[in-house]
Amino acid sequence: MQVMGDYYSAIQLRHDQWTTLREVTEALASARKPKREAALVTNVRALFDLLGPIETYWAFPGVQAFEQIRRQFEHGNYADVAFSVQRICRALSTGAYRRRHVPLDRDSADADEHEDEVIQPPEARALAKPYFEVLVVDNVNEHQERWLHSNFKKMRRPEDPFHYETVVVPSLQDALIGILFNYNIQAIVVRPGLKFDSKMEMSLLTRYLDWAGGTEGIEAVRSLDHGPALCRLVANVRPELDAYLVTDRSVEEIAGHDLGICRRVFYNQEDFMELHLNILRGVQARYKTPFFTALVEYSKQPTGVFHAMPISRGKSVSRSHWIQDMGAFYGSNIFLAETSATSGGLDSLLEPHGPIKQAQEQASRAFGSKQTFFATNGTSTCNKIVVQALVRPGDIVLVDRDCHKSHHYGLVLAGAQVVYLDSYPLNEYSMYGAVPLREVKHMLLHLKAQGKLDRVRMLLLTNCTFDGIVYNVERVMEECLAIKPDLIFLWDEAWFAFARFSPLYRQRTAMNAANVLRERLRSDTHARAWEEQQKQLKDASEEEWLNTRLLPPPDARVRTYATQSTHKTLTSLRQGSMIHVNDQDFKGEVEVSFHEAYMTHTSTSPNYQIIASLDVGRRQVELEGFEFVHRQVEAAMAMRRAIMTHPRLSKYFRILTAADMIPSKHRESGLESYYDPERGWSDVWDSLVHDEFVLDPTRVTLAVGGTGWDGDTFKTQILMDKYGIQINKTSRNTVLFMTNIGTTRSSVAYLIEVLVEIATDLDELLDDASMMEKRGFEKRVSNLMHDLPPLPDFSRFHDAFRSAPETPEGDIRSAFFLSYEENNCDYLELDGSIKAAMESGQEVVSASFIIPYPPGFPILVPGQVVSQEILAFMRALDVSEIHGYRADLGLRVFTEEALKQQAKANQARLKLNAARHKIF
Ligand SMILES: Cc1ncc(COP(=O)(O)O)c(C=O)c1O
Repeated sequence: MQVMGDYYSAIQLRHDQWTTLREVTEALASARKPKREAALVTNVRALFDLLGPIETYWAFPGVQAFEQIRRQFEHGNYADVAFSVQRICRALSTGAYRRRHVPLDRDSADADEHEDEVIQPPEARALAKPYFEVLVVDNVNEHQERWLHSNFKKMRRPEDPFHYETVVVPSLQDALIGILFNYNIQAIVVRPGLKFDSKMEMSLLTRYLDWAGGTEGIEAVRSLDHGPALCRLVANVRPELDAYLVTDRSVEEIAGHDLGICRRVFYNQEDFMELHLNILRGVQARYKTPFFTALVEYSKQPTGVFHAMPISRGKSVSRSHWIQDMGAFYGSNIFLAETSATSGGLDSLLEPHGPIKQAQEQASRAFGSKQTFFATNGTSTCNKIVVQALVRPGDIVLVDRDCHKSHHYGLVLAGAQVVYLDSYPLNEYSMYGAVPLREVKHMLLHLKAQGKLDRVRMLLLTNCTFDGIVYNVERVMEECLAIKPDLIFLWDEAWFAFARFSPLYRQRTAMNAANVLRERLRSDTHARAWEEQQKQLKDASEEEWLNTRLLPPPDARVRTYATQSTHKTLTSLRQGSMIHVNDQDFKGEVEVSFHEAYMTHTSTSPNYQIIASLDVGRRQVELEGFEFVHRQVEAAMAMRRAIMTHPRLSKYFRILTAADMIPSKHRESGLESYYDPERGWSDVWDSLVHDEFVLDPTRVTLAVGGTGWDGDTFKTQILMDKYGIQINKTSRNTVLFMTNIGTTRSSVAYLIEVLVEIATDLDELLDDASMMEKRGFEKRVSNLMHDLPPLPDFSRFHDAFRSAPETPEGDIRSAFFLSYEENNCDYLELDGSIKAAMESGQEVVSASFIIPYPPGFPILVPGQVVSQEILAFMRALDVSEIHGYRADLGLRVFTEEALKQQAKANQARLKLNAARHKIF
């Protein structure tokens, strides 16, 4: 039997213990020898003891049924026990208990057998009423508990859109464990009798209490009124849930409390029907998908199409002699739902007033923004929209150089003065980490010293990065606002839409951090702390500013934007993305320019299927995002453990840990690895709360250099071509496995199988290899693991694109458009002419973006001076794809003459600006 320490998650533990119980009870039912029977009895009893406390948090099979089976076991009715346990396991894995009553005793179960869930077609399941569980918190005895369950049951009506079961727990602590353990819970009813402490001792469950208490811990609320305190705590961990507070206090007493997610307070009454209707209404509010529903309705209407859209209603397909296969493949609904804003009946994405507007409002609620906008051309477009909406020509923007290319192009279009920030390099894996806060602060202070802070407009960072490095968003914003109190933040969360739905990750998302900051800035405690810090920082040196955890002034403006590729991590058709806004000055300052930017980049024929999928994806995360993200983390952790503990794999592969990917000075908690074969699981909570950077546990980077294949070859020739496994990113000696909300334990198992097979094949190959072949292999491995070119920092913009030699920002737009004139450009060969030019003292300046894949971000941007380090890196790169570089011609650079002319134009422009400045 596996011990509890083997488990990362209590959900996995529960699942596996039931499976083991099924196997052991089956064996017990057929055991013939007393000695074997005695051993099995001990085993079963231990499993019942373990599962007993766990089951108090779940409605199925329910505590009463569980105790009944346990009694049967004590009476020696082993065959009955085996039968019931087998039914439970089946119902848990098929989800049958969500759709119907599952009888557990043999007589009634036999009759029910033909209704087996496995044979139900998906359409029938789709029509079944969705199921959820309601957590009732009250310290009641067994009799009262039965009374509570039966009162809720009596309220059921055939017309109810959903059905639910109730789970009763006695205390505030149990309630918090319950909502973090039982993902079926959608609503919580807090009754006056609740107590504070739980009797639960299982560490896998009690550690949830850390998650629920936030930085202050739940002890902070022990002396407060437990009911309202619980509603507030639930809002921290699962804000999507609905809470109902039943209280015997007076209205006046409750009125002053912050009630968190409480939807309604019931005073001194036991009106179960009112409660029941409210519970259903609360879930209905999340279930509602205004645009998807409107699209479904639209598709049922008979319409004649006299519009430029022959595919609409599928007529051009169904009447075809040649493309019938397309119709057969997709089915008719996709065509029936093809429509456009101008064909009437539905809303317009460009001017939403109806169901699209409502769907966006629902998304805003779900993701914690103040405004949310849908996009049907991916986050590439979202980034350009936000940059254009906020950045005026000449504004200074600080941006991580390894950000997605859409930002670089957006900054060109907006005419920004760009300051590139360097992420810390991970030379041994040829990938970058993220930008240390110290670097950002240093740059802001530098610009302040130059008197340019008023022109600094935006900080743009990628959270989390492709490789899974996650910022401490709240801290970055706080400290930057302390230097520049109206700085705007654009967080590229292309890979992070799922994060909101896990209490672990949520604190590291832009929208959550913005909401927390807004509240904090309003508080008197913060104002006092800030005043105190100001006194200490009076006459402080730059070094002291860098070493202090800075506090923003109370009148700082919180101006935060996040762009998310919903399609990358949640349910949405490809290109479905969202822009989330939490900007105190949006309405006053940005709304109009945002609208213009949205018009600039959005197609006038947006795809309505994508919009509908965004709407449905939002419903999903509000109702089961918590469960799916939890399972996703679980799958990634299982993958880590399996690879790290498999004896055959360690010879060729290695999982990169937090310590490998984040230097220790940015990991204040000291956490090194999520799993260690000797020490087991580490608690990730501390690192998520405190560390400057954390590694997103759902991303697993595997070092494959030990196989002798580089990352790209391993991806295409081994994983993809041989085993049909798709992955997205590689570096020179690593591949990245991204789990997603659809990843299952069996897909993880398949991956492990494949890795073991690869390792076995390599073992055999090396066994038979000649001396020379072995040497060749060792050399390849050594090349991949050790001889890696150091990743170059951003050099600088050429003076022709800067306002002064000592300033970091550069006019990327002028450089970009200067290259449109062929005469301004020349090509220099990497190993020949470029080297000669640099040795002769010429400044070689790139005329294009040069983007090698991997790593996939520009190592040169237009206007950037080529440094020796960059040259060395480019020479050492053996990747086949370098966007912007012509292997036949060389590197596209500006001619000296073009740079001279540009420098003159630049000087003239600067003089004109200075004169203007004097006049106005
Ligand atoms: C960090 C980052 N931002 C933005 C994008 C673009 O997103 P989309 O594919 O939705 O256009 C990507 C794509 O990989 C990305 O990695």
